[in-house]
Amino acid sequence: MSSSTADTNAAEHATSYPPSAEFVATANAGPELQAAADADRLGFWADQASRLHWHEPWSEVLDWSDAPVAKWFVGGKLNVAYNCVDRHVLDGHGDQVAIHWEGEPGDSRDVTYNDLLAEVSRAANTFTELGLVAGDRVAIYMPMVPEAIVSMLACARLGLTHSVVFAGFSASALRSRIDDAEAKLVITTDGQWRRGQAAPLKTAVDTAVDGAESVQNVLVVKRTDIDVEWTEGRDLWWHETVATASPEHEAQAFDAEHPLFILYTSGTTGKPKGIIHTSGGYLTQASYTHHNVFDHKAGKDVYWCTADIGWVTGHSYIVYGPLSNRATQVVYEGTPNSPDEHRHFNIIEKYGVSIYYTAPTLVRTFMKWGREIPDAHDLSSLRLLGSVGEPINPEAWRWFRDVIGGERCPIVDTWWQTETGAIMISPLPGVTATKPGSAMAPLPGISAKIVDDDAKPLGAGGNGYLVLDQPWPSMLRGIWGDMERFKDTYWSRYAVEGWYFAGDGARYDEDGDLWVLGRVDDVMNVSGHRISTSEVESALVGHHSVAEAAVVGAADETTGQGIVAFVILREGAENTGETLIAELKVQVSTEISPIARPRQITIVPELPKTRSGKIMRRLLRDVAEGRDLGDTSTLVDPKVFDAIRGS
Ligand code: WT7
Repeated sequence: MSSSTADTNAAEHATSYPPSAEFVATANAGPELQAAADADRLGFWADQASRLHWHEPWSEVLDWSDAPVAKWFVGGKLNVAYNCVDRHVLDGHGDQVAIHWEGEPGDSRDVTYNDLLAEVSRAANTFTELGLVAGDRVAIYMPMVPEAIVSMLACARLGLTHSVVFAGFSASALRSRIDDAEAKLVITTDGQWRRGQAAPLKTAVDTAVDGAESVQNVLVVKRTDIDVEWTEGRDLWWHETVATASPEHEAQAFDAEHPLFILYTSGTTGKPKGIIHTSGGYLTQASYTHHNVFDHKAGKDVYWCTADIGWVTGHSYIVYGPLSNRATQVVYEGTPNSPDEHRHFNIIEKYGVSIYYTAPTLVRTFMKWGREIPDAHDLSSLRLLGSVGEPINPEAWRWFRDVIGGERCPIVDTWWQTETGAIMISPLPGVTATKPGSAMAPLPGISAKIVDDDAKPLGAGGNGYLVLDQPWPSMLRGIWGDMERFKDTYWSRYAVEGWYFAGDGARYDEDGDLWVLGRVDDVMNVSGHRISTSEVESALVGHHSVAEAAVVGAADETTGQGIVAFVILREGAENTGETLIAELKVQVSTEISPIARPRQITIVPELPKTRSGKIMRRLLRDVAEGRDLGDTSTLVDPKVFDAIRGS
C-alpha cells in the first residue's frame, strides 16, 4: 500500500483541533445534519434537493432497481444553468459579482450574475444557431478564462453534454477524447498565457480535429492575440458570434438524469474513462457539500478554489457548487509563481478571499518557497482552508494551518474522486475536531466502509480498501460507451455486497477517524493529477526505439509521487543515452501531457518479471525509492536487479 503509511501511524496521535466557539456559532452545519441523515437517509437527500429550483418535482428520491446505475429524483425536471445563474438574478442579486477574474498578465475583470446571465444566454443562442440540440456533445479545451465557465453553463442550459479537456493535454489526448464522445463542437482560445508568454492553443485543436468526423465547428475566444490558422466554414470567432448574439434566452427543463457532462480520467488501462455525470443528483450534492463543507455564506464570503476547470474539482467547486450557491469567487488564469511567488497571496489580499481551497502539492511548494512570502501579506480575510487531490501529510497540514490560516482557520481535508462527483469524506468545519492528515469521516448522507479482501469490515488500525456501500446523488452513472468496464472497474470487486470499490487504501485510527492512504491500483497521483502507469507505458512504447516499458510512481517530497520509468530498447536500436532519454520525455509530453512527463527514465537490459510474466512493479518502486529489496525469490532471474541498479 501507499508509502505514507508509516508517516500516518506516528501522526495519528497528534493533537486535534476543535472548531472555535465563534465558528460554531455561525456555522452552516451543526450536529443535527448527521442526526437527520441517520434518521432517514433518503429523506435527508430529498431535503438537500430542495436547495435547488425544480421546474417539475420528482416522484421518488432514489430508484436503485437498475444497480449499479442509479436514478435520483426520479421524474424531476430542472435546468442546471437556471439554478446557477437565472435564479440569483430573479432573486434580486444580479449586481452581485459572481467571478472576480484575474488574468495572468495582470488584467482583471468582474463578472456579475447579470453579466453571466447575458453571456450564457448569448452562447446558448449561438450554439443553437450552430444546430446543436440536447444530447449533443461539446468539447471545451480552454485556459481559465470566464468564457470557459460561460461555455459550460451554456451547454448545461441547452442539455448539451460537455466534455472539458484540460488545456495542458496534448493534441493527441484531445483527439481521442473528441472521438470517444463524438463531439460536434470544440471550444478553445487562440492561445494561453503561461509565465508571461503567449503559448499557442488553437494549433493543438487544429491538429486534433484534422480528420475528426464528428466535429462541425471550432469556436475560438481571442485571448492572447497570437496568429492562428483558420479553416473557413469550420472555425468561428467568439467575438463575432457569441458576442453579437441575443442576450435573451429562456431555459428549458431537463430530466434529473439528463447527462450533464463527461469527464475523462485515468484508470488502470491505457484508455482514459469517460465518466458520466447527470443533472439533479449531481447538482444537489455539489451544492450541499459546497454550502456545508466550506461553510459558504452567499453575499459575504469571497471563495477561491485554485483548481482548473479541466479537472472534476473545477467542475464541482468552481462552476456548479459555488454558482448554485450564489458565491462570489476568484478565478485565476495563471500559475502560482507568475510573475513571482507572491501571486496567490496578492490575490487573497486584493479580493479579501475568505475561503481558500487548494491541493497539498501547492502547500508543500509554498513551504519550500518559505514562510516569509505569505508572512509579507495580510491574510486576515481567510476564515477556512480546504485541501483536495491526495493525502495531505501532517507536516503540510500544520504549516497550512499555522502560516496561511493564522492558526485560526479550520482545515477541511476533502476526499472524493472524479467518479464520486462531489465531496464524500471530510470534516464539517463547525462540528468536527480535525486532526492533521485525516479526512475524518463520511459526510452526513454518505456511507463508507473500510474492508479487507473478504469484505470483512476492519476496526482500528487495519489497512483495508475504501468502499462506498450506499448509492449517493452525485455518483457516476457509467463510463461513456463502455458500461461493461463501468461494472468491472467499480462494482465487480464486491459484487455480492453491491459496494463501490474506490481504488484507495484507508484505515481507521483508535478514535475511529478515517485516514486515506492512497491508490491501491496502478494509478499514480502526481501533484493531485491522476495518471495511469499503463498510459505512460504505452506512450513510451510508441517510440520506435522502445521494446518494453515499466512505469511506477515513486514518493516525491513536493508532488506526492513522481513518475519513474524503466525501458528496454528494441533489438538494434541505438542507445544514445541522455539524448534518447530526452526524446522519450518529449514523447510522453506530446502523447499525453507535460504533467505525465517522467521525472526519471532508466534504460535497462531487462525488467523484473514473475514466472507468469507479470512485471513486478513493487520491486521497481523499491529501486526507484532507493529501498532495500525484499523477497525476490519469485523472480525469473534475480540478477536482473543488479543490472537495473547498475545502469
Ligand atoms: C483520487 C481521485 C477529487 C478531486 C481531485 C482528484 C486521491 C483525492 C484526496 C484526499 C487522500 C485523495 C484519491 C482518489 N484523493 N482527494 N483528500 N485525501 N487522497 O480527483 O483525479 O478523480 O482522483 O485522488 O486517491 O481516489 P481524481
